[in-house]
Amino acid sequence: MIVSVLPNFLIPKVHIQSPIAKKVAKKRKEIIVENLKVEGVADKGFAIGRYDNRVVFVRGAVPGDVVDVSVYRKRKDYMEGFVTKLHTPSPDRVDAFCSHFGVCGGCKWQHLDYQAQLRHKWLEVKNALVRIGKLDIPEIPPVLPAAKTKYYRNKLEFTISNKKWLTKEEIDAGIEPESFNAVGFHRPRAFDKIVDIQHCYLQGDPSNEVRNEVRKFGLENNYTFFDIKKQEGFLRQMFVRTASTGEVMIIIGFFYEDIEKQNALLDHLRERFPEITSLMYVVNTKKNNTIFDQDVKCHSGQDFIYEELGHVGFRVGPKSFFQTNTEQALELYKIIADFADLKGTENVYDLYTGIGSIACFVANKCKHITGIEEVDAAIEDARQNATLNKLTNTSFYAGLVRKILDDSFAEKHGKPDLVITDPPRGGMHAKVVNILLELAAPRIIYVSCNPATQARDLNLMKDMYKVDKIQPVDMFPHTHHIENVILLSKKIMMND
Ligand SMILES: C[S@@+](CC[C@H](N)C(=O)[O-])C[C@H]1O[C@@H](n2cnc3c(N)ncnc32)[C@H](O)[C@@H]1O
Repeated sequence: MIVSVLPNFLIPKVHIQSPIAKKVAKKRKEIIVENLKVEGVADKGFAIGRYDNRVVFVRGAVPGDVVDVSVYRKRKDYMEGFVTKLHTPSPDRVDAFCSHFGVCGGCKWQHLDYQAQLRHKWLEVKNALVRIGKLDIPEIPPVLPAAKTKYYRNKLEFTISNKKWLTKEEIDAGIEPESFNAVGFHRPRAFDKIVDIQHCYLQGDPSNEVRNEVRKFGLENNYTFFDIKKQEGFLRQMFVRTASTGEVMIIIGFFYEDIEKQNALLDHLRERFPEITSLMYVVNTKKNNTIFDQDVKCHSGQDFIYEELGHVGFRVGPKSFFQTNTEQALELYKIIADFADLKGTENVYDLYTGIGSIACFVANKCKHITGIEEVDAAIEDARQNATLNKLTNTSFYAGLVRKILDDSFAEKHGKPDLVITDPPRGGMHAKVVNILLELAAPRIIYVSCNPATQARDLNLMKDMYKVDKIQPVDMFPHTHHIENVILLSKKIMMND
């Protein structure tokens, strides 16, 4: 369906400006690129076109649109801007379903038809492997689509703040809000401004209800909301984790200790939401919101939630990484198991193992599997997960892959027949790539959520390894993110 009215993202960015910012904006001459034909997509939800020998990165457009663009950044070889007028909508343009679309930083591709999203993700994988990786590749099959394109995430983190972002509609209506307290997501490019989320389509029940209840309780009981610049305020952040088993974990982050107030909110949530199986909290007095180095305590219930993926079960602790789209994680793991084609005799390494989920998933098909992961708590979970699944052929080590995986490691654990590697978005450290080349395993499965860094790493390995199979998987509908699985096999070398 084609949009008939200008949605939020086509309305010029408006927020309350300081008098100085207003003067600067007045002085700066507005540059408009007219009738730009939008041709492709880029990182961070931008679409791209070309004008005056420059790439134009556009917010709010989809490939196939013809638009006018107001440029807010102009450099020698590129410009960045947002759409001010939609002349011709792309046939792939659809109505966004979320009222926060265009204001909130998530789900930037809601206005792009899902099939078109998949085509662009496929192209991103291909371009990365060919242009960055300079690899010879077999045909890439279509991206494995997600059966569920809404409510697919099992984990969300909301920021609690006293810096609510006002939408243009709110400003135009002249309504001065009673309070600037908000619970939601960061406004893109305005790290201290929070979009007050009423309904988020990313996570199923009871995520929306719990978030809205925390806001309501905080407002009704005069709790202060966190001010990140001034470093003051009581309520700071909250995490919601849901599992396909029905278990729910809530973590509330406070900035300072006030046991009476903490317990009042936590007791209220426990009574109001009996479905919460793990109610936790953290008093985080640091400047930033990360909780990996914090003591997350249990108020009631268990200190983990139980998740299942096919034939294996997992306990997921408050700080542990777990694939955020459970249903697609199962599809992803089935592809990994299929590429691995294990016969029961193999010695396997699982690098960046998290809570040992891939390791536990394939352990029943190999002789032994060894996982490495930097987060201590995740490795504790991984060991417990192996026990939970009655696995006796796994070992797990906590530490950086590049430090743990030295020569003595291979001596102790035996050379691997297969290495599965699943690094974070930044890809593998160059030292890890070198270690893999020294290990020279006959086969490697490289799982990545960033085709660009995956291609960069594979480029360093291309003299020794060839790409046998590729399968992109859509784990994150309505975003530009794409997961990609690649099977490599060792080329036959002269000295083999
Ligand atoms: C993309 S996740 C993959 C987790 C796991 N394979 C799974 O499927 O759930 C990457 C993991 O690598 C861990 N990690 C990041 N950098 C690391 C490093 N240098 N050494 C070891 N682990 C690291 C993160 O904590 C995270 O658990």
